[in-house]
Amino acid sequence: MSDQLDTLLSEQRRFSPASTFAADANGTPALYESAARDREAFWAEQAGTLEWIRPWDRVLDWTPPHAKWFVGGKLNVAANCLDRHLTGPLRNTAALVWEGEPGDRRVLTYWDLAREVRRAANALKQLGVRKGDRVAIYLPMVPEAAMAMLACARIGAVHSVIFGGFSAESVRDRVNDAKARVLITADGGYRRGQVVPLKRMADQAMAEAPSIEHCIVVQRRPGSPGDESFATMKEGRDHWWHRLLDSVSSESEPEAMDAEDLLFILYTSGTTGKPKGIVHTTGGYLTQVAATTKYVFDLKPADVFWCTADIGWVTGHSYVVYGPLANGATVFMYEGAPDWPERDRFWSLVETHGVTILYTAPTAIRAFMKWGTDHPARHDLSTLRLLGSVGEPINPEAWMWYQAHIGGGRCPIVDTWWQTETGGIMITPLPGVTTTKPGSATIPFPGIVAELVNDAGTVLPQGGGFLTLAAPWPGMLRTIYGDDARYQETYWSRFPGRYFAGDGAKVDEDGYWWILGRVDDVLNVAGHRIGTMEVESALVEHPAVAEAAVVGKSHDLKGQALAAFVTLKDSHQPSAGLKDDLKAHVAQKIGAIARPDDIFFSADLPKTRSGKIMRRLLKDIAEGRALGDTTTLADPAVVSRLKDTYESQEA
Ligand code: WT7
Repeated sequence: MSDQLDTLLSEQRRFSPASTFAADANGTPALYESAARDREAFWAEQAGTLEWIRPWDRVLDWTPPHAKWFVGGKLNVAANCLDRHLTGPLRNTAALVWEGEPGDRRVLTYWDLAREVRRAANALKQLGVRKGDRVAIYLPMVPEAAMAMLACARIGAVHSVIFGGFSAESVRDRVNDAKARVLITADGGYRRGQVVPLKRMADQAMAEAPSIEHCIVVQRRPGSPGDESFATMKEGRDHWWHRLLDSVSSESEPEAMDAEDLLFILYTSGTTGKPKGIVHTTGGYLTQVAATTKYVFDLKPADVFWCTADIGWVTGHSYVVYGPLANGATVFMYEGAPDWPERDRFWSLVETHGVTILYTAPTAIRAFMKWGTDHPARHDLSTLRLLGSVGEPINPEAWMWYQAHIGGGRCPIVDTWWQTETGGIMITPLPGVTTTKPGSATIPFPGIVAELVNDAGTVLPQGGGFLTLAAPWPGMLRTIYGDDARYQETYWSRFPGRYFAGDGAKVDEDGYWWILGRVDDVLNVAGHRIGTMEVESALVEHPAVAEAAVVGKSHDLKGQALAAFVTLKDSHQPSAGLKDDLKAHVAQKIGAIARPDDIFFSADLPKTRSGKIMRRLLKDIAEGRALGDTTTLADPAVVSRLKDTYESQEA
């Protein structure tokens, strides 16, 4: 981290907004001024751009750490994203432009999407889903994923989207925690030319998920009905999406939801082995995602907005579905991998669909850099006018490359810091307003109060420390599903009265934020959040493993990669075969994103006298650094032994 800090400290480049962009930008300096004058009035003004069934009585009830926004107000998220656009020209405008990995395409106007969502809402109702019930969604990036989310929102069901790359066991655990009554999946989804057998995994999950009464299956594979190898339908429980929708009417009234009713639960990794169900509600969440989409991405009617995140992550919720659709935008959505069939697929998509705004992750940008400039250079990218970055710190070199080779030197870059828990963007430039510095997420969005504190919780005007949020914000998580004590403990106990995000950061002399990454036992692997404890739990469930410690190790492309130190039971011997077996075991338990890059066998692990594994030392070993302080160790010799074995195994 200190190398990283040095690089950032020496970053002197500045990019001030082009006057042509500024002249026409949605964002203005006045937004910051009005939010600074009266934060609640600012957010109320943003909420006022939505359509409310009943106006709110109070903007904010704040009983730390519990916030209620727009108290007493009633609205429906799906009506705000769809119905209210149907009375004007947006009715016949593309809401969703979609391309599948094999190259199949669909365009849905606002009218089309609204009609499908009304039918899907009626289908859910017909299966007995009522307001407040949980619906799990385990789908590839197909239009039905957005439809399913909006259908839930329409009837007041709470969705829990589970990333299509997660394993059957991960699906099972999430479904059981939420006690979902319905699971929506697909026969399969395309990834690098292969079909991911989602329904088969859903079947395994459902076998141990007693709350599930019905499963709705989207037919993704052309001509697949009856193709039993990918979707075996269980009579009475399983229903094809298209048949179900054909059997219901397309008339449906949106449910009047309280501003604080649950909109969704989204599971994310924390510092324990058990993922947390992050709870987001209706009015505040939609207000923040609508406002940030409008100002951060400068959305205009002619834009084609492409956020490359999967719907299974919060970025997909907020900036593929809710934020853009609330703004009446045209959203582009792509199903597959960036290097399929060739490494220019993204650029071919930008050219074909005339994408104007691209929002992606540094890990992808670093891969594009490695693949070389020929791929983007072969395509006409002149429609692009704004670029975004999210998910992890973007190194200045990647920022500069993105600007030059994708943005053609003319597109502003918005580096946006936020989290699953924050619901929407928190720290970001406003294009046309904010001068940017490569590698800095710049300053808090209007109405957001971020403060840097030291270890003792003292606020620092600048320097290095911890990123905290000192005032409630509309899109904030309300609790952890079913575990409010964990909510209070995880986010509000380290620095009393402040939300602690888990990130280390630096604030420079201009008040600009430079995010340095997680300071807890959470890793960021290729923009995906993975808890070290989850991977450790998966490893110790393997019959050969006695103990395991997982650390993050710097990786050129992924930012961080997983390295696992494993102690075997006496009955098992280290071998290359066992390493592969353990990697496969983790992928099967959690999902391919958690597969360790390196596994090291070790007779023992460095522990403090109280028995805590010293991950910091393991990280030093994994990254080949001189060892840190070992004085608190129960047996300092363990570390040097480990380092020797590590180096010999690495060869
Ligand atoms: C963590 C949140 C919400 C976006 C998708 C990830 C890291 C996110 C940035 C950024 C530096 C970033 C932080 C944060 N992060 N954006 N622009 N610069 N770091 O959501 O899975 O909840 O992860 O991603 O470490 O805590 P998430």
